[in-house]
Amino acid sequence: MKTEQELARAQQDRWQRAYDDKPRLHGPEPSALARWTVRLFGAAGIDDVLELGAGHGRDALYLARQGFSVHATDFSESALHQLRLDAQRDGLDDRVTAALHDVRDPLPPADATVNAVYANLLLNMAFTRTELRSLLNEIRRVLRPGGLFVYSVWSTEDPCYAKSPEVGDGLYSKDGFAARFFDPTLINDLADQWELGGADLYDEGRRKLWRVTQAKPA
Ligand SMILES: C[S@@+](CC[C@H](N)C(=O)[O-])C[C@H]1O[C@@H](n2cnc3c(N)ncnc32)[C@H](O)[C@@H]1O
Repeated sequence: MKTEQELARAQQDRWQRAYDDKPRLHGPEPSALARWTVRLFGAAGIDDVLELGAGHGRDALYLARQGFSVHATDFSESALHQLRLDAQRDGLDDRVTAALHDVRDPLPPADATVNAVYANLLLNMAFTRTELRSLLNEIRRVLRPGGLFVYSVWSTEDPCYAKSPEVGDGLYSKDGFAARFFDPTLINDLADQWELGGADLYDEGRRKLWRVTQAKPA
């Protein structure tokens, strides 16, 4: 079994290769979560978003097209390169910035300076439970009081749950990608010291996901 560091390095290499092979791996259309989040953030009067694990930016570009300013981060430079090219092509580069960042490291923003954080299918990547709790603490640190965090993850109701080999700490690996499937206990655990606004199961294609909204207490 790999150490945490070996697993993390292998995952970064795996994602980098995947984006090198297919620069727009997730396709041009925004995710269902992005479409839903636009309405939530709009109603909350939010106009700037920190996106974590943005990939090649299908959601960042969509949010920018809807008028939001987006700072997108990912640990794949290939994905971010594609994101910057597409932002330039679409004339959105004044509203979308992109920076290389591994979310195992502290988030760059200062305390209580961010209005909203968004992460589609990042938290179900190869993080230990301890790393997930640290990441949630970091997100809470950078959010302003009352700031929102919206994320999606694969659910234990997903048809692929537990169908591939387990690689430790509840993570499963397929084609070199390690991932976790979330249940309500884990979602509640990660909402400790937050206000949990909602956790809803939804379908996207044949996948079953959770959409989770939580706020930093005001
Ligand atoms: C399933 S993809 C989702 C990409 C994007 N959110 C979307 O929906 O199109 C997961 C993304 O998380 C990124 N990622 C995985 N582990 C990461 C880490 N430790 N730090 C930053 N990004 C990470 C990957 O490079 C990949 O772009």
